Amino acid sequence: MSETDTLRDNRDRGGPAQPLVLAQNLTKHFPIRSGLLNRQTATVHAVDGVSFAVHKGETLGIVGESGCGKSTTARLLIGLIELDDGTIVFDGDALGSAISLRDMRKSVQMVFQDSYASLNPRLTIEETIAFGPKVQGLADPLGRARDLLGKVGLDPNRFAHRYPHELSGGQRQRVNIARALAMSPRLVILDEAVSALDKSVEAQVLNLLCDLKDEFGLTYVFISHDLNVVRFISDRVLVMYLGEVVEVGPVEAIYGKQAHPYTASLFSAMPSMDPDNRTMEPPLSGDPPNPVNPPSGCRFHTRCRFAEDVCSGAKPALATFGNHPDHLAACHMHDPASGHSLAGAEASA
Ligand SMILES: Nc1ncnc2c1ncn2[C@@H]1O[C@H](COP(=O)(O)OP(=O)(O)O)[C@@H](O)[C@H]1O
Ligand SMILES: [Mg+2]
Repeated sequence: MSETDTLRDNRDRGGPAQPLVLAQNLTKHFPIRSGLLNRQTATVHAVDGVSFAVHKGETLGIVGESGCGKSTTARLLIGLIELDDGTIVFDGDALGSAISLRDMRKSVQMVFQDSYASLNPRLTIEETIAFGPKVQGLADPLGRARDLLGKVGLDPNRFAHRYPHELSGGQRQRVNIARALAMSPRLVILDEAVSALDKSVEAQVLNLLCDLKDEFGLTYVFISHDLNVVRFISDRVLVMYLGEVVEVGPVEAIYGKQAHPYTASLFSAMPSMDPDNRTMEPPLSGDPPNPVNPPSGCRFHTRCRFAEDVCSGAKPALATFGNHPDHLAACHMHDPASGHSLAGAEASA
């Protein structure tokens, strides 16, 4: 059996229709402590009741302004921080009961934005990639590392013995990707993994990610603030605002017509060279409210030009929008039961 076949080995017990990850009501609040006694004085609502599925073989993009909880969601998914509330089901196994965090971590790997900080400066590239497999007791970790270096486009004869500081940012990120793949993961979380790269290098790494996904049968969660990049790589997109999901759906549906006023404003800031593609939506003004004291009801109501009384009073639930059954948005203005309509608001705006 070749290396690739080994990495592809079928651990797909639940079949292709069962989501690889089912995250329900993920919640993480960070205490803020101050003063001599280090008392808790406030709570940051970093992630508040976030639910979503990641389907096998897809790329789920996560977008939203800085501080909306994207990285915290990723860290919860990989078990780097503990959930305050909520459940994670990994291919049908509930985390904590049917599958341990330790076992799940073998199947989920993460690549971070800072390619240099993620690597041990004292280890050569091949030692870095071989480290995980060695700890796991896998056969021939160095051979595996050299094989993976080739897969990420770095000639093992030139790069295996180099140190991280001898590499460019793009090359280091390729090493980080190889290191993640060395653990034969099923899910790879890319948290702003290409955001620090030059545009030309970014494009090369994005293409590499697409190739590796096919070759190793991977599933990606791709976090980025760059909406063009998310469109290129994702199958579905999840939009977060102040720790909550405001919209989720297939790329073509969301990029075609945004359902939530927040998504529409966010997308209006997206550069486009196509004059037919320009949105008339005014861009977002001001910063997001403080996550220590998130607004009541719909958290976007303080910045939303369509907001009515109902928006500050009650939290909107995710409901289907438009023609696509998988396109959901949490906005009172789309809820036929509430008697409101964004279309009406738009006409009078
Ligand atoms: N360890 C922590 N302690 C306190 N607050 C945190 C911590 N990590 C993140 N936060 C806060 O949680 C919110 C969400 O952060 P984060 O998930 O990093 O957002 P994003 O990745 O979308 O920029 C922010 O307000 C951030 O300041
Ligand atoms: Mg982040």
